[in-house]
Amino acid sequence: MSSNSKSKKSQQLESILAHDGLTSGDQFKLKSLSWRTFKSRHAGPSFDRFPKFLMPLLLAVRNLKYYNFPRIMEWSLSEDESASNNIASFLDREEFVDAYRQLRCASGSVVDPGLHWRLHQICWAMANCLDLGGVFVECGTGRGLMMSGGLRSISDWNTRGIQMYLFDTFEPFGINPASGRNDQSMGVRATYATSLDDVKETFGEWGNVRFVQGHLPETLDAVESQPIAFLHIDLNHAVAEMATLRRLWPMLLPNAIVVLDDYGQVKTQNDAMNSLAQEFGVRILTTQSGQGILMKPPLRNRS
Ligand SMILES: C[S@@+](CC[C@H](N)C(=O)[O-])C[C@H]1O[C@@H](n2cnc3c(N)ncnc32)[C@H](O)[C@@H]1O
Repeated sequence: MSSNSKSKKSQQLESILAHDGLTSGDQFKLKSLSWRTFKSRHAGPSFDRFPKFLMPLLLAVRNLKYYNFPRIMEWSLSEDESASNNIASFLDREEFVDAYRQLRCASGSVVDPGLHWRLHQICWAMANCLDLGGVFVECGTGRGLMMSGGLRSISDWNTRGIQMYLFDTFEPFGINPASGRNDQSMGVRATYATSLDDVKETFGEWGNVRFVQGHLPETLDAVESQPIAFLHIDLNHAVAEMATLRRLWPMLLPNAIVVLDDYGQVKTQNDAMNSLAQEFGVRILTTQSGQGILMKPPLRNRS
C-alpha cells in the first residue's frame, strides 16, 4: 500500500473516531419501548386459588399486562430491522473492532452504517472457508465495505495465497429494477463505488485481489474453472443474483459457504433464492441481520 493511501486511511479513521466522540450517548446501550410478542405465557398455578368464574377477568388483565403494555427492553444490538438482547461478544473482540473500522473507512463516510452483525457473519464465513482450497468471490463489491472488513479480520491473508475475485460494474448509480443495470436516473448510491480506482485503493494492502469490471453474470468467465471456497452475493437485483448463483453453484467446493446479502430484507431476492435452493436441494439459514447463509453440501450428502 502506498504511503499516500496509508495516510488517507488513517485520516479517515481519525475523522470517524472524532465523529463517534461527538455522537450523543453510547450507541450500544440501547433501550426502547417494546411489546412482548411470539411468546405465550402459561398463567400458571397462581390462578388456582381464585374462583373459576373470575378466570376470564384474571386472564384478560394478565394478557393486557404481558402483551399489550409496552415495557422498556434493553438491547445488545439494534440494526438491520432487528433488535436483540443476545450476547454479542464479538463486538468487543479486537480483530472485529479493527475489521469494523476498516468497513467504515471503506464507506467513505463518518456515519456508522450499522452493519455489525452482517460483518460478523461475513468474517465468520470467510474464516471457515480459508482451508477449503478454493478462491473467494464477491459478486457486487461496491466500495468494498464487507470484503475489506472481512480481509482485515484475516491477519495472515497476504501469506495464504488465496485469490479473491471482486465482481462489479464499479459504477455509482442505483440498479434499475426493470433492466438490472446501473442507471443514472436511479441516482447515486452511497454504498456503490465512485470509481474502480477508489476501490482498488481501499484494497491496496491485500495481495491476490482481482477486480473484474462489468455486468454479471456475463463477466463470470473470469473465475471459470476455479473451485470456489467462499461466495458473497450482493447485487440488489433478484434476476442477476439468481443467474450468478446458478452459474457458480457447480464450482463451489464441498462445504463452501455462500452468504446472500439482503435475503431477509427484499422479497424478490428472498423468493428467487428460495426457489434456487429448492432446485439445488439445500436449505438457506435466515439470520438476524437479514443475510441468508447456505453451504454447498459435502459430497456424501448429495443425491
Ligand atoms: C449494495 S452494493 C454492494 C455493496 C458491497 N457488497 C459492500 O460490502 O460494500 C451492490 C453492488 O452491486 C453492483 N451490481 C448490481 N448488479 C450488478 C450486475 N448485474 N453486475 C455487476 N455489478 C452489479 C452495483 O454496481 C453495486 O456496486
